[in-house]
Amino acid sequence: MVTGANKGIGFAMVKRLAEAGLNVILTARDVERGKKAVESLRTQGLEVQFFCLDVSDPSSIQIFVSWFQNNFEALDILVNNAAVSFNDIYENSVEQAETVMKTNFYGVKLLTEALLPMFRRSPSMCRILNISSRLGSLNKVRNPNIREILEKDDLTEEQIGDVVTLFLQSVKNGTWKTQGWPKVWTDYAISKLALNAYSRVLAKRFQGSNISVNCFCPGFTQTSMTSGKGTHSADEAAQIGVRLMLLPPQELPTAKFYIGFGPFVKSKL
Ligand SMILES: NC(=O)c1ccc[n+]([C@@H]2O[C@H](COP(=O)([O-])OP(=O)(O)OC[C@H]3O[C@@H](n4cnc5c(N)ncnc54)[C@H](OP(=O)(O)O)[C@@H]3O)[C@@H](O)[C@H]2O)c1
Repeated sequence: MVTGANKGIGFAMVKRLAEAGLNVILTARDVERGKKAVESLRTQGLEVQFFCLDVSDPSSIQIFVSWFQNNFEALDILVNNAAVSFNDIYENSVEQAETVMKTNFYGVKLLTEALLPMFRRSPSMCRILNISSRLGSLNKVRNPNIREILEKDDLTEEQIGDVVTLFLQSVKNGTWKTQGWPKVWTDYAISKLALNAYSRVLAKRFQGSNISVNCFCPGFTQTSMTSGKGTHSADEAAQIGVRLMLLPPQELPTAKFYIGFGPFVKSKL
C-alpha cells in the first residue's frame, strides 16, 4: 500500500507496482482525487484498490486499518509517501509547522505502528519504505545538543518525540531561528529528520526479523511540492523507489538511507 498516491511520486509508484503485477492499494486523503487516480490507471489497463486515508487524522488511520484487516490476510509492502510542505522553493515559513509534523512524522509513525501486526508472518521479506528527504539529514542540524541526541546508538522514540516537541515550542515562542535547526524548509526538514530517526529505531527493533525498513530520498523531483520544478520526473523517481522496494530478499538491506539519483548511493540511517 502507498499513502498520498493520488498524484506525484506516490501515484507513479503505485503505477509501477501495479505494472509489476502486485496487488496494490492506492490511498489518498481526498475521495474524489483518489478515485480519479484509480480511474486513470484503469484506462491504462491497471487495476488497483482504493481507500481514503488522511495520515494526519488518527481516526482515518483507524478506519483504514480496520478495513485492511477485514479485507486482506497480510501486508507485504508499506510505502509511507504522503507529506506536505507549505513553502515555495526559496521560502522558509514555519506557520504550518504543526500540520507538517502531524502529516510527515506523526502520521507515518501512527500508521506504521497500526499496520505492524498485519505484516506477513513468513520468511519472505516485508518492506517499509519511508519517502524522506536529504533536507532531513543530520548534518543540516547545527545545534550540537540536538545532534547528540539523534546520533545516539540507543536513541528512543520518546527522544525523537521530544526533539519534535522542542522545535514546535521554539516555533510557538518565536525562538526557532536562533536555535540551530536546519536552515532550508525548516519545519519540513525537521519532520524528515524525525522520520529518518524513527526509521532507524524501527529498523533496529526488527533487526534479524523479516521486516526491512529503509528511507528513500527521491531527489529534486518535478511535482506539486516543488511547483513542478526539479531535475527529473515523478516517474523517474518512482522507478528507482520501486526497484528498491522489489529487491530480492537476500539483497534487501535494512536501516539504509537511499539517495535516488546520480549513482545509487546508500548510507547508514
Ligand atoms: N518532489 C521533491 O523534490 C521531493 C524531494 C524529496 C522528498 N520528497 C518526498 O516525496 C514524497 C512525495 O511527494 P511529491 O513530491 O510527490 O509531492 P506531491 O505531488 O505534493 O504529493 C504529495 C501527496 O501527499 C498527499 N498528502 C498530503 N497530506 C496528506 C495527508 N494528510 N494524508 C494523505 N495524503 C496526504 C497529497 O495529497 P493531496 O493531493 O490531497 O494534497 C499528495 O497525494 C513526499 O514524502 C515528499 O516529502 C519529494
